[in-house]
Amino acid sequence: MIVIAIDGPSGSGKSSVSKEVARRLGLAYLDTGAMYRAATLWAQQTAGDLTDQAAVAAAVEDMPIAIGLDPDEPVFELDDVDVSETIRSTEVSTEVSKVATNLAVRATLRKMQQDVIAAALDGDSEGIVAEGRDITTVVAPDADVRILLTASEEARLRRRALDVHGEAHEAAVDATRDQVLRRDRDDSTVMEFQVAADGVVTVDSSDLDFEQTVQAVLAVVAQVT
Ligand code: C5P
Repeated sequence: MIVIAIDGPSGSGKSSVSKEVARRLGLAYLDTGAMYRAATLWAQQTAGDLTDQAAVAAAVEDMPIAIGLDPDEPVFELDDVDVSETIRSTEVSTEVSKVATNLAVRATLRKMQQDVIAAALDGDSEGIVAEGRDITTVVAPDADVRILLTASEEARLRRRALDVHGEAHEAAVDATRDQVLRRDRDDSTVMEFQVAADGVVTVDSSDLDFEQTVQAVLAVVAQVT
């Protein structure tokens, strides 16, 4: 049984790397960013005004979410509807920080995430890789492995442009710059995820390709197993 916690900013590669690490080690995979995205979509659909902190917190507390933990296909559902694609839309991406900076929402999702991690350890799986912004510090500070996956701003913008636009020429990078940097700035008002906390190992992927980054994370895991 192992808990691997991986945090990092947008475009650090943490989702694809965490998924691949979970696959190779035969572990469950928890994408906590997808939970904040699902909470945002649910609040948009049911609470309306995202600046109404109490209404948003109440909506999220009751959200009928199903959380997929399969690294090959982490399907998220709201009210039995597959929202795995919708939660990646620009409408959600541009508003997610408003919901993620709501402290009552954070408390609700933290509890859900801790329950998911505990259930995975009690269940059939060999353990879980949980990734996000505050997993190493708040959600699972006692995780067996705690990693901060970072990358230079330039590398992060290039990767996000490739993800979103399928190419990383200057116009594509410019188009993602505002969204990525604004989200990181807004997120960092309520949590620190750019500097590693005590005991958290930093893996800088700026000059590593995908496979090298996966190997770097697996090497950190190997040290504790
Ligand atoms: O990782 P991803 O880009 O999907 O995360 C979306 C948003 O969810 C982040 O910008 C942040 O606002 C929020 N988030 C968070 N805490 C986490 C994971 C994500 O606040 N543990």
